[in-house]
Amino acid sequence: MAAEPRSHDCVFPATKKRGQDDFDSDDFYPSKKAMLPPGGVWEDPAAALASARHEFGEHGGVNMSIEASATFTVMEPETMRRMFAGELGPDRDFFIYSRHFNPTVLNLGRQMAALEATEAAYCTASASVLLQLCSSGGHVVASRELYGGTHALLSHFMPRACNITTSFVNITDLEAVSSAVVEGQTKVLYFESISNPTLTVANIPELSRIAHDKGLTVVVDNTFAPMVLSPAKLGADVVVHSITKYVSGGADIIAGAVCGPASLVNSMMDLRQGALMLLGPTMNAKVAFELSERIPHLGLRMKEHCNRAMVYATRMKKMGLKVIYPGLEEHPQHQLLKSLANKDYGFGGLLALDMVTEDRANKLMNQLQNVTQFGFMAVSLGYYETLMSCSGSSTSSEMNEEEKEVAGISPGLIRMSVGYVGTLDQKWAQFEKAMSRMPK
Ligand SMILES: Cc1ncc(COP(=O)(O)O)c(C=O)c1O
Repeated sequence: MAAEPRSHDCVFPATKKRGQDDFDSDDFYPSKKAMLPPGGVWEDPAAALASARHEFGEHGGVNMSIEASATFTVMEPETMRRMFAGELGPDRDFFIYSRHFNPTVLNLGRQMAALEATEAAYCTASASVLLQLCSSGGHVVASRELYGGTHALLSHFMPRACNITTSFVNITDLEAVSSAVVEGQTKVLYFESISNPTLTVANIPELSRIAHDKGLTVVVDNTFAPMVLSPAKLGADVVVHSITKYVSGGADIIAGAVCGPASLVNSMMDLRQGALMLLGPTMNAKVAFELSERIPHLGLRMKEHCNRAMVYATRMKKMGLKVIYPGLEEHPQHQLLKSLANKDYGFGGLLALDMVTEDRANKLMNQLQNVTQFGFMAVSLGYYETLMSCSGSSTSSEMNEEEKEVAGISPGLIRMSVGYVGTLDQKWAQFEKAMSRMPK
């Protein structure tokens, strides 16, 4: 059997040696109180991450060991029965099978929970949370400004496969959100903290208040704003992420996370009814380890993404370009974001540059990549290099022309995920050079 796991444990009770049964708790996750740093007040995502449990390696390594096993042994046959009955769980180092909880994936979940100030988290394809929260016949109210894949999931896949329907609304119109709720049928309010690609900032406290008054669960996609916004601190119940983006930072891993109440995460893992357990979008432990190693510098990366995005947006505006960035005073939700954001991270690392026509957008991106080497034409975001794509014909192409128009996605809109490689002056000179070569 493995040696007793080591952990530098600020917030979680130490895990027990296998076989040392403990009957005190029947929860897979410790209590909400346990997620708080010593002193009890959650102030900042970086502080919370630094206070989360640090797993050491099997041999005392500063990094945790990777638990690569698909299956786990027990000392006594009775233990197996008790694990399947939910009496013994991962909080006491009892694991069944890695489609269910895995120690390395669970550790990444603890980091994501600390980052998002939620009671628990598990790393997986996040769409599974909607299947857990809604049953057949259920209804979702969602923002009309969503990543194209999420829009397609809600408007096409879920009605067909699960009989779950969605009404899309303008989430800046709180009346419209409230009116779209169908009593007894609507289960979830779903929106992005900062929308893709239009960069609309959600009024998370007000939207959560409206949703909670009507008994809904608030699910917020915080992919665009980790560290910058903490939706759960602002009233949301569940925070989902595409970890593929900023959390990974390397554009080399596809992954997601669901951060929320322990009861929800545990229900998703239920052996009989859990969407995560039964559909099986399981993360590999080796991937979870890689991601765990990147989270400690997420804050530093976010600050530089945001800093450069702010500088570029300001300078683009001065050049007379039509730029959308929530850090600019004229952005409709600038003051709102200022009031909601965590201190010192900035206003996000994405900006949108409206070149009006797709042809001009393509010409500019061609210059920026193939002539001046400012960045890459590629979808996705959160990479150290700048990534640019024309949203209407790429990541929002799942939407029809009318839906794009309603969502404010003009044909010439370039979404730019601002990277941090090179010096700022070097990169800005590359942008200016590309602009100077554009036909008038
Ligand atoms: C806001 C948002 N949510 C979710 C996703 C989906 O990400 P993944 O491919 O990691 O599932 C994306 C992808 O671009 C996104 O921008």
